[in-house]
Amino acid sequence: MSSNGASQRQGAEAKTRPPVHVAIIMDGNGRWAQKRLLSRILGHEKGSEAVRMAARTCREQGIAFLTLYAFSTENWQRPKAEVDALMRLLRRFLKTELPEMLQNNIRLNVIGRIEKLPMDVRQALDQAISATQGNTALQLNLALSYGGRDEITRAAQALAAEVQAGSLRPEDISEERLSSHLDTRGIPDPDLLIRTGGDMRISNFLLWQLAYSEIFVTPTLWPDFDREQFLKILDEFQTRERRFGRV
Ligand code: FPP
Repeated sequence: MSSNGASQRQGAEAKTRPPVHVAIIMDGNGRWAQKRLLSRILGHEKGSEAVRMAARTCREQGIAFLTLYAFSTENWQRPKAEVDALMRLLRRFLKTELPEMLQNNIRLNVIGRIEKLPMDVRQALDQAISATQGNTALQLNLALSYGGRDEITRAAQALAAEVQAGSLRPEDISEERLSSHLDTRGIPDPDLLIRTGGDMRISNFLLWQLAYSEIFVTPTLWPDFDREQFLKILDEFQTRERRFGRV
């Protein structure tokens, strides 16, 4: 990671391009609720509002892709009431946000093990994905029942099956070919990863795709993450020098 010291804050002329793809680990809903002696579920509810803000801000800033870590493969191990509440929020989000997605030219997409989600959530997702598939302003990727290791494992299985079938030689497995079997095929790697809630971890999110992403961790808990802070990070991103391993 490059430094972001004062020497690089040289005003608008020194700025690099804005990110094309922003990925966010939305952490801290539980702590936000606990601090207020509320149930964790209310924290997730408040977190849904920040999801709306993030999508609107990306749309308005001309960012082409936003990927949100909404539910991990590990999250299935949370208490049933919390998992059910998250599924309920997702259903509600899909219902209430579809008109806005249609109006604002937002395309919905999902990554992860969708087949593990309850049938009615899958149906709502399928419906919103097909209704918005022609939209071109912002692609909103929801990572649901998603794990980076799981995604890479599935890609490895698909490649192994091609080798077994005789249609692929092991030496022809390239980074590009492996990428083409990931859920994110066709989507550029994130330029910027934001994690709220202060933890310095990737937590099994986009393990392959984050190889060269700039990482910003903010102590702000996700429900408190607002437009102003988001814009500030987007601005700061443009002062970082990205070298992709080169000098
Ligand atoms: C992490 O906070 C957050 C989640 C596991 C779920 C994220 C879900 C939402 C923001 C709301 C629903 C999403 C959509 C797309 C409508 P945590 O519970 O781990 O917080 P903690 O670290 O403080 O316990």
